[in-house]
Order: sequence, then structure tokens, then C-alpha cells
Amino acid sequence: MPRGIVVREFGAPGVLVAEDLPDREPGPGEVLVRVHAAGVNPADTYIRAGGYAFFHPPLPYTPGFDGAGVVEAVGAEVSAVAVGDRVFVAALGVPASGTYAQQLICDVAAVHPLPGHLTFHQGAGFGVPWTTAYRALFQRGELEAGETVLVHGASGGVGHPTVQLAIAAGATVIGTAGTEEGLDQVRSLGAAHILNHRTPGYLDTVPELTGGRGIDLVVEMLADQNLEADALLLAQRGRVVVVGSRGSLTFTPRTLMAREADVRGTALWNLTPAEKHAALSGVSDFLAAHQLIATPATVYPLDEAARAHEELATQPAVGKRILNCS
Ligand SMILES: NC(=O)c1ccc[n+]([C@@H]2O[C@H](COP(=O)([O-])OP(=O)(O)OC[C@H]3O[C@@H](n4cnc5c(N)ncnc54)[C@H](OP(=O)(O)O)[C@@H]3O)[C@@H](O)[C@H]2O)c1
Repeated sequence: MPRGIVVREFGAPGVLVAEDLPDREPGPGEVLVRVHAAGVNPADTYIRAGGYAFFHPPLPYTPGFDGAGVVEAVGAEVSAVAVGDRVFVAALGVPASGTYAQQLICDVAAVHPLPGHLTFHQGAGFGVPWTTAYRALFQRGELEAGETVLVHGASGGVGHPTVQLAIAAGATVIGTAGTEEGLDQVRSLGAAHILNHRTPGYLDTVPELTGGRGIDLVVEMLADQNLEADALLLAQRGRVVVVGSRGSLTFTPRTLMAREADVRGTALWNLTPAEKHAALSGVSDFLAAHQLIATPATVYPLDEAARAHEELATQPAVGKRILNCS
């Protein structure tokens, strides 16, 4: 029997319990994926805790939107993928049974070809992080070649693809991290400048780094901590795209007036099917044209999903947290 995580009540990481699950068959328009790896995203932890504004699944449920594996069976009316295809799963907003399991039933819209040179662990990190990065940079941030991007929180799951996509689009990237390991990684992704967001005064050099022009686009992972400082760094008509925030803040709107600047939010839950398709196509184009710099993974056995959630909430990010489902 396939194994999977089942949540029977909302709460602390301990509610993630590994169980044997019944074998299932795909219905019309559905695909059965043998999941080899599942991606752990911060949203999974908010949903597990209960009361998450965007998504509140009925209990019991199996968590996880992202994964990678092999198509094991297809239902009627499915022609986009075939048995044996290697795929990555991007199931946020698409009907799916949850990727924290060895077997996944999902709508065919959730599966995408995984190029042969990429591993299942890499593929499991694509869905939410890469779609978010693309959304923030291009669909909301309107990034143009030659601009300067501050990726405020570049060492995590979303930060890695944001840096890579921005550089590929011809931007100059300044990336922040909070540990030496994270800073090394952001440097290895090709960021022109790296800054430690745990060092007091770390943004003081930004005017000099941008030749006095300021930042064109900030992709912000922790807006409640940084939005006021971000706005002060912006160039004329600069933009901040808020990807992550965990609280509120005091803010000086006059900063935006002086720069005719914009603060824009984004949440993947809002993407239309066409926008999601465009974002994932953009990611596929990147993967076809560029050498992926693999995001390092911290890998946990599927049965230890609770530890992955605990550490995601309490430890600094070093790339992506992945569950090994094989
Ligand atoms: N809007 C959306 O649709 C969407 C989609 C995906 C994720 N998110 C949110 O975006 C955030 C990042 O997601 P993720 O998957 O990258 O999480 P993650 O892998 O846990 O990474 C968190 C990132 O935030 C950085 N960080 C910590 N303190 C910071 C500070 N004071 N200033 C700037 N950055 C700081 C971390 O750096 P160090 O660990 O090196 O300090 C790390 O780079 C989360 O809040 C998540 O919920 C939103």
C-alpha cells in the first residue's frame, strides 16, 4: 500500500502522521503519479496550523502542492501525458490529493514534463517557488532588462529561482541572506552583490551599489520587517512586490509619493489558469535555455514531514526542504 501523510486535526507539526493509504485509480481527466519527492512550502505549514486565509481543506487531508515523479496511470480523456512520463507537479489551485504521499491523484493540469537532466528532488521544488518567482518578477513586477532587483530573502525556496530568472532577464541582482551558507549560495547563483539581512545597516551601501539611482524592483519575502526600508531604496517609479509578510508595520506613504513608486502584493491563489500557464511556460522556457543552478535541498524521509515543518518554521533557509517519498 502507498504511504502518505494524513492530517486529521489542524495544529502543531505533530498532526502530520504517516499512514498506509488505499490504492486509487485516476478518473476522467486525472493522472496517477508515483511521487518520488515532495516540496515543502511555508504555505503548507500555515494550512496545517488552521485558519489560513487562502485555503482551509476539509479534514482529513494529505498536504502538499509540489512534487515530482512518474506517471503511473492516466484516466479517460487524458492525452497531454502518458504512462512512464517523468513529471513535476504544481497543484496549487488545481484538484489534487496531496503530494506528501507515494501516490498522487491529480487533475492533468497539475503535471508538467520534467526534463531528463533534472532530478526528482529538483522537480519537487519547482511548482510554488518558481511560479511565485515568475509572478513576482514579470507579471506583477514588470521587470525589464537593465533594471536592478533587490531580492530581499534570496536564500530560500522562492529566492533561488527569483535570482536566476531575474539574471536571465538581463537584470542586475542584489540578494540578501541571513547566514554565511545562504550568502555563499546567493553568490553562486550569480547575484552581483550580496548583503546579510541580519547585519545592522546592511542596506546602507545600496545607493552606492546602484550608482545613486536606487532599486527598480524589490521582491520582498518579509514585508512587515522591511517595507519601510525598501521604499526608501527605490528609484523613481520603482516597485516593491510583496511575496511574504508575517505581521504589520508602521509605514511612511510620503516615501512612495516622492518616487511615484508602487507597492504591489501577490499571492499565487489569485492566478487565473491563463496566468498560471504563462508563468509555468516562462519557467519551462528558462529551463530549456539556461543551465539550472540547482537549489540545494534539505531532504527528509516522508515519515518525518513533521520535522520538516518544525525546522522550516524555526531554522534559517538553505535552499529547499524536500520529502523523499521513494
Ligand atoms: N505570495 C505568494 O504567493 C507566496 C508564494 C510562496 C511563498 N510565499 C511566502 O514567501 C516567503 C518566502 O518563501 P520561501 O519558500 O522562500 O521560504 P523559505 O525557503 O523558508 O525562505 C525564507 C527566506 O526569507 C529570508 N528571510 C529571513 N529573515 C529575513 C529578513 N529579515 N529580511 C528578508 N528576508 C528574510 C530567509 O533568509 P535566511 O534564512 O537566510 O535568513 C529566506 O531567504 C514566505 O513567507 C512564504 O510564505 C508567498
